[in-house]
Amino acid sequence: MTTTLKIVSAETPIAVFSKLSDALCLEAQRAVQERNAFFCALSGGTTPEPLYKDLARRPDFPWQKTQVFIVDERCVPEDDPRSNFGMLQEALVATGALQREQLHCVNATLPKAAAQYERLLRERLPDGRLDAILLGMGSDGHTASLFPNSVGLNAADRWVVANEGPTVVPPARITMTAPFINTARWVGALVVGESKRAMLRKIFTGTIAASDAPIRLIAPESGLAYYIDAPADPRPC
Ligand code: 6PG
Repeated sequence: MTTTLKIVSAETPIAVFSKLSDALCLEAQRAVQERNAFFCALSGGTTPEPLYKDLARRPDFPWQKTQVFIVDERCVPEDDPRSNFGMLQEALVATGALQREQLHCVNATLPKAAAQYERLLRERLPDGRLDAILLGMGSDGHTASLFPNSVGLNAADRWVVANEGPTVVPPARITMTAPFINTARWVGALVVGESKRAMLRKIFTGTIAASDAPIRLIAPESGLAYYIDAPADPRPC
């Protein structure tokens, strides 16, 4: 998997969020200008919530023309504190940026959740791809819910799969696959904090296999833009 890695760094998480907020807003404005709509997928986890709340307040973000999907979901009810949908609903719907029907949930507790979510994506995406995807990264090199050496990595022709196993941090997950993520027009990864530095060093020096650091499977045509703060930056000062 080869792709262009772009690094956008800033001293603090707040400064990184500001740069990433501008980049996402630019992608949204470009998509609306070219296709009259913006289709994006956002990740969960703890890092991005302040970014989403900042985006929700931006008067220059075309929220009325935006549809938000979820990169991955934990197999828990929507009102469970671990639910990514719950966090995104709080950040984007409760704040008034999106109407509820513009945020697409995964129904992750259903038996065939992955197949149902893939059907939704195939129905809703006009040209079978997203305009933008925002990823995170765990200190183990996972992204979305694509964990090291997990069954979710072997899903060549699928857009969405279920994933669980010894390396998958419980609960079981539903996740977009790397091949589908790679079709997006723009892909960014928000990675902040000292705990991520060691893994970023291995990724940027190419000294870890993609199966051991699944974010290395992310190789979109437009490249992968890492948004990192100083504590996570593995480059020599
Ligand atoms: C999830 C996310 C996951 C997340 C990373 C980083 O459902 O947890 O989609 O891929 O982005 O685990 O999480 P933090 O931002 O909490 O470090």
